[in-house]
Order: sequence, then C-alpha cells, then structure tokens
Amino acid sequence: MSQPEKVSVLTLRRMKAEQRKITMITCYDATFARLVDATGIDVVLVGDSVGMVVQGHPNTLPVTVDQMIYHGQAVARGMKRAHVVVDMPFMSYHVSVQQAVETAGRLVKEGMAEAVKLEGGRERLQAIEAITRAQIPVMGHLGLTPQSVHAFGGFKVQGKRDDEARRIVEDARAIEEAGAYSLVLEGIPMELAAEITEQVRIPTIGIGAGVHCDGQVLVLYDLLGMDDSFRPKFVKRYAQLGAQVRQAVDAYVEEVRGGVFPDDDQSFHREAARRVKMRQASR
Ligand code: KIV
Repeated sequence: MSQPEKVSVLTLRRMKAEQRKITMITCYDATFARLVDATGIDVVLVGDSVGMVVQGHPNTLPVTVDQMIYHGQAVARGMKRAHVVVDMPFMSYHVSVQQAVETAGRLVKEGMAEAVKLEGGRERLQAIEAITRAQIPVMGHLGLTPQSVHAFGGFKVQGKRDDEARRIVEDARAIEEAGAYSLVLEGIPMELAAEITEQVRIPTIGIGAGVHCDGQVLVLYDLLGMDDSFRPKFVKRYAQLGAQVRQAVDAYVEEVRGGVFPDDDQSFHREAARRVKMRQASR
C-alpha cells in the first residue's frame, strides 16, 4: 500500500497561501494517534495539556521534558501522515537560550518531534531564533498561554483591552520575524485573531480565537467529551465518550458480579471437554 503524503512545514505554508483550513488536534498515545491520523488530520500536537487531561493536574506546569519525550515517542509510533509537534514544557526554555536549544534538540532526537511549540512573545525571541538556527521548526503560542496561568491570575481571555491587543499583534509579528513557522492563538477575541492572521505570513491556528484563523486546534479529550464537568465556551463536543465509557464499565461490572461474563464464547476448554461438547452439539 502506498504511504500517504507526509504533512510538513511546507504543506502548512502552502495551505495558508491557498486559504485551505489547517486542522490540528492534541494527542498523547499511540492508539489515539493511529485513530486520529487515519482521519487525515493535518497536525498532531503532543501538548503539555497531557498534564491536565492525562495526569490530572490543575494546570500544565508540572509536566517534564522526559514526559514529553515519552508521549512524543508513543504518538510518533502511531503516526504516518500528520505533522507532529511536541510542546516544550514549563521551565524547559525559560532559563537560557542554550537550555531552550538543548530541550528542543532532545524533543526532536528522543521525542520524535518534527517541530516544537513554545509559549510567549518578545521575551522568547532569542530562543525562537536559536532553535530555528538549529534547523528545528518552532511553532509560537500567544494569548492565553497556559504556562502563564499564575501570572495571568487564572485561565483568562487575553487581549480584550486595546493596549493588550496591540502588544499581542506586535508579539505575533516579532515571532514571525524571529523565524517561527506557525503560531497558535489561544483565548483571544476573534477580531484580534483575524487581524493577526491578516498581518502575518505564517499560518495561525486558533483555540478560543474565532473562525478567522488559518486553522483550528482542540484538545482531543475535550472534543470527545471525556469529562462532563469541563465545559469551557470555546470547546465543541463532537462525542460524549465520557458517558459511553461509564456505561460500558458499568455493564462490565454488573456482568462480572452477576456471573454473566465471561460466558462460553470468552472461555478456553481442555481438549477432552471440547470433544464432549462437540459430540453433544452434533446430536
Ligand atoms: O498543550 C496543549 O494542548 C496546547 C493547545 C491548547 C494548543 O498547547
């Protein structure tokens, strides 16, 4: 069977030029990677949201580089076509430019990343330039950057005020200038995302940033409806898998307790017992 054509940084650039929407989703393991890749999605982000949706933390801050490498490897094993981006976790690029390049290098060499994503604007330009010089594509991330949760005083929409909006537009231009090949815009007014998308040549990918971005990204577990209690405005649920998981496990528990599972179909037999059974069936 022929391999599907791999999505690359060039594909994404072409898609923006041709005004074709880019589809992106997060993923953390090989099983979901295979399912998601088979849909023809363009980009898979091994997001540090793994800290919240898989590890159960209240934010992304505890996630480590080793964990991102572990999940990057798992996702890459399930991936044939989509472009794989791995997040640089909190404090893995903040200390120095050298630290940033070394972390990005590990994510590529060990974590199977084809590109890395980091959060922040003007304060990250040197890191973006240096990682790009090391031939590693960098995806920027502006707006409600989750690693800044404490600095923002919570997960709050950014760029509503004019001065904030101006700063985000300037950051977007500066990130492009520093060499980033694409840019996630999270939790900002849709009018601001539209303005940035028009002003930069690199593709913008929105989450909670309206329809005018060049593409969209959602956290896989959110769009699958894994957690009934998590209902932010920007998420659309395309399934109710949380409820389905509960129903399936409830049914299993009931059948085990009632002695209904396993029945004969799920059981093995000794040869002699099998012969008796077959004789009985043929009578
Ligand atoms: O970690 C993540 O899932 C992300 C997306 C929200 C863009 O950074």
